[in-house]
Amino acid sequence: MKKQPIGVFDSGIGGLTILRALHRALPHENLLYFGDTANVPYGGKSKAAVTRLALDVARFLESCGVKLIVVACNTASAQALSALRRQLTVPVLGVIEPGAQAALAATRNRKIAVLGTQGTVESKAYIKAIHKRCPQAHVFQQACPLFVPLAEEGFADKPAAELIAREYLQPVQQSGADTVILGCTHYPILKNLLARILGPRVNLVDSADTLAAAACQFLQAHHLAAPGGKGSVKLYTSDAPEKFTASARKLLGQQTPRATLKKLNV
Ligand code: DGL
Repeated sequence: MKKQPIGVFDSGIGGLTILRALHRALPHENLLYFGDTANVPYGGKSKAAVTRLALDVARFLESCGVKLIVVACNTASAQALSALRRQLTVPVLGVIEPGAQAALAATRNRKIAVLGTQGTVESKAYIKAIHKRCPQAHVFQQACPLFVPLAEEGFADKPAAELIAREYLQPVQQSGADTVILGCTHYPILKNLLARILGPRVNLVDSADTLAAAACQFLQAHHLAAPGGKGSVKLYTSDAPEKFTASARKLLGQQTPRATLKKLNV
């Protein structure tokens, strides 16, 4: 079991930031990543639709013999985690709890802002996870739907991205939050821009690092960590594998293997 791969999935390329963090934190593990590019974005879809898509992807990863599934997608974690845990036999880790914990560890004034998709914001998943641990915390939420196409299209460094980010971040700055959760896998791609606008006094909680740390802890606690050797990365995508491979190579390096096309339920 220890030698089995870890499955990671997201609606698209955003979760590659989490894959990169997992690969760095767990260099001995074999990682299988599924980017559901045929169905991106998940962020504006209903809970029922997100749950159905997440179950399809997770069942595919389970059929590959993974020992653990990491739901890199915040929207799927927020809306489908309990359904995944009910319906799969393999353990499932989501991104919300580690993100909430990391934000509480970072905040000094207990004012936390969550940037996320419409679906994540509406689920109030981060608010619940934060209030479970610290009922006094003030949690402000801001949906930033335009960040996803900006990241997907490689617009992170363009002036248009800055204009949009300033608009979304204005109420966040007014909220007085000293800690901001990047509650969507795509947002770490815009991290430098967001950090520049918010300034040095605001902590940015990146779900990539926090989820990688949680996966490390889980594997240790359940005696599931790979015994050694060099871990590998295998990429699957449900559409446009060439475009996906190009994005993956930009983020993970040119040595990244080509993505394999895997259509689900067609
Ligand atoms: N991956 C999604 C998330 O982390 C964002 C992109 C989408 O809307 O599908 O919430």
